[in-house]
Amino acid sequence: MTSYQAHYHTAMTDPETFWLEQAQQLPWFQLPGKALEQLSANRYRWFGDGRLNCSYLALDQHVAAGRGEQNALIYDSPVTNTQQCYTYSQLLQQVEQCAGAMQQLGVTTGDRVVIYMPMIPEAVIAMLAVARLGAIHSVVFGGFAAHELAIRIDDASPKLIISASCGIEVTKVIPYKPLLDKALTLASHQPVASLIVQRAQLAAELQPGRDHDWHQALASAQPAKAVPVASDHPLYILYTSGTTGKPKGVVRDHGGYAVALNYSMAAIYNVQAGDVFFAASDVGWVVGHSYIVYGPLIAGCTTVLYEGKPVMTPDAGAFWRLCQQYRAKVLFAAPTAFRAIRKDDPDAQLLQDYDLSVLECIFMAGERLDPATYDWTTEKTGKPVVDHWWQTETGWPICANLMGIEPLPVKPGSSSVPVPGFCIEVLDDAGRVLPANQQGNIAIKLPLPPGCLQTIWGNDERFEAGYLSNFPGYYSSGDGGYIDEDGYVFIMGRTDDVINVAGHRLSTGEMEEIIARHPAVAECCVIGIADALKGQLPFGLVMVKNGSAISPEQLEQELVAMVREDIGAVACFKQAKIVQKLPKTRSGKILRKVLREIADGKTPQVPSTIEDPSCLEEIRMHLP
Ligand code: COA
Ligand code: AMP
Repeated sequence: MTSYQAHYHTAMTDPETFWLEQAQQLPWFQLPGKALEQLSANRYRWFGDGRLNCSYLALDQHVAAGRGEQNALIYDSPVTNTQQCYTYSQLLQQVEQCAGAMQQLGVTTGDRVVIYMPMIPEAVIAMLAVARLGAIHSVVFGGFAAHELAIRIDDASPKLIISASCGIEVTKVIPYKPLLDKALTLASHQPVASLIVQRAQLAAELQPGRDHDWHQALASAQPAKAVPVASDHPLYILYTSGTTGKPKGVVRDHGGYAVALNYSMAAIYNVQAGDVFFAASDVGWVVGHSYIVYGPLIAGCTTVLYEGKPVMTPDAGAFWRLCQQYRAKVLFAAPTAFRAIRKDDPDAQLLQDYDLSVLECIFMAGERLDPATYDWTTEKTGKPVVDHWWQTETGWPICANLMGIEPLPVKPGSSSVPVPGFCIEVLDDAGRVLPANQQGNIAIKLPLPPGCLQTIWGNDERFEAGYLSNFPGYYSSGDGGYIDEDGYVFIMGRTDDVINVAGHRLSTGEMEEIIARHPAVAECCVIGIADALKGQLPFGLVMVKNGSAISPEQLEQELVAMVREDIGAVACFKQAKIVQKLPKTRSGKILRKVLREIADGKTPQVPSTIEDPSCLEEIRMHLP
């Protein structure tokens, strides 16, 4: 057996001992006596009798252990020309003040707090302060529009909202506060108060009685201590796109998450306390939660918070500059970021200006790592590149090359092997296990390891129906792919209507709901089409109502504006074409799988129930 195999085997055959040992690495207020409990046929709880707090683990434990003067957070913002370091002691002090300010506004254990912020230190401080009180944060990505924010506010019913006056996108100043104000006019639920960070680039108008200035509130607050909570107490809700217009609020616990992340920092990323970890994501996404905030801080690393892009701020050398300047040991980003760098600097000329000797490994996730991007990054940087597969739901990698245990030979196109704790099988549509190299639905045998979703916020039925009922005894990932004869997993794409645009997960169903509201639209379908930079882009196919006089150009313009207004610029919805017919079954169901296959350039398997196969030709003509 290789070390990886031995490690994996122990985790699978004796999970109780394996995970209790991992739990013992952390300073609990009350150490759990048991790792796993089964609550019902397919529901489990990790470390049920333990008590802890993730904010304590991320901050206090390091100060108590004498690491208070080490940098915890480095904020680097080329868009505001700012670089600022926070030691663990300084970050703890800010978080204590922020938690105190929230307490003054009435926030207590179990309350929800929505955080709608750009990539500034206050976003991290706010998350850790919410966790400190045993309250539950729900961070909403800043690129989402007011309508999306309103949906999340209504679902999470927060007592408090924390936001900032603006975000900065390359050179554009995006006023966040008016978006928040608009969301609150759209939402039925109203928070008791809001806390607003006023940024130098744009001041926001504060509504007396409701909106409070962040700096004033923190200055006058009493520092708050971390509240011990049960291991399965919710730490956060993170909304992610499903197949309908209503996003799913993934709920994560304190205990299982802390243990899983701490384990992953050593086993997967091969980092220890004192190392610098640079995850170029956003706190609005799961990567930001797990590997900008909680993972690196719980492990005692220094985390880099980057308010900028891989290119344009100011150029395609930005990542290399950050790695050199902060002596990053790990760089983690989405493949799309490296495609953008490669497009602007194909020969990696800018790389020559920087010393990357401290950088040990580059990790990529969020979308499929295409072999061309893998080859380019490996060749130009000379560093190992690890593709690893995970989802908002799992919170940490399901498959990876475990650099801290035993780096295995790489197979480009594969996110390597299952991480200990995840038992992966490929199933056909009837739930039968498929042999090696046969493509099917990727499923994970229950119980899931610690750190994965507990449920969908306020909706256990949706959790069961969406993830646990397709294949009894398994968690259904929504991804398709295969496992080869050596046990390497190849993730080939979603089997549902979720698409991945620049590493951002979006729902085509949600876009369809918006487009269908246009008065000229009779029926529509949005599919993901391949894009050389962003991986996928949404593409609308629209049937107009009889007698509608609108021109195709005008309709496209209006639909693009509607999606941008409702979901936000991040949807990148820019193309909609009129078609005479959409492919349907005789019972009237749009054949989305067929459309997806056409868009991917494959020869679709057209079911015999198709109403009129001739429409496929017209659709092919419209696709770029
Ligand atoms: N707040 C407000 N608007 C935002 C935003 C935010 N946080 N993030 C993105 N947007 C807007 C952009 O300004 C842009 O608006 P525009 O249509 O008016 O130009 C739109 O959303 C699309 O943004 P983006 O996807 O970032 O595209 P881009 O063309 O500006 O940049 C890349 C292309 C490849 C550089 C960029 O997509 C990128 O950095 N991708 C990596 C993202 C990532 O790390 N994802 C993984 C999460 S794990
Ligand atoms: P998110 O929940 O936003 O992290 O998106 C998760 C989805 O992104 C997965 O279900 C996959 O479809 C895709 N994904 C993430 N990482 C990878 C990867 N390494 N390879 C292929 N697809 C990936």
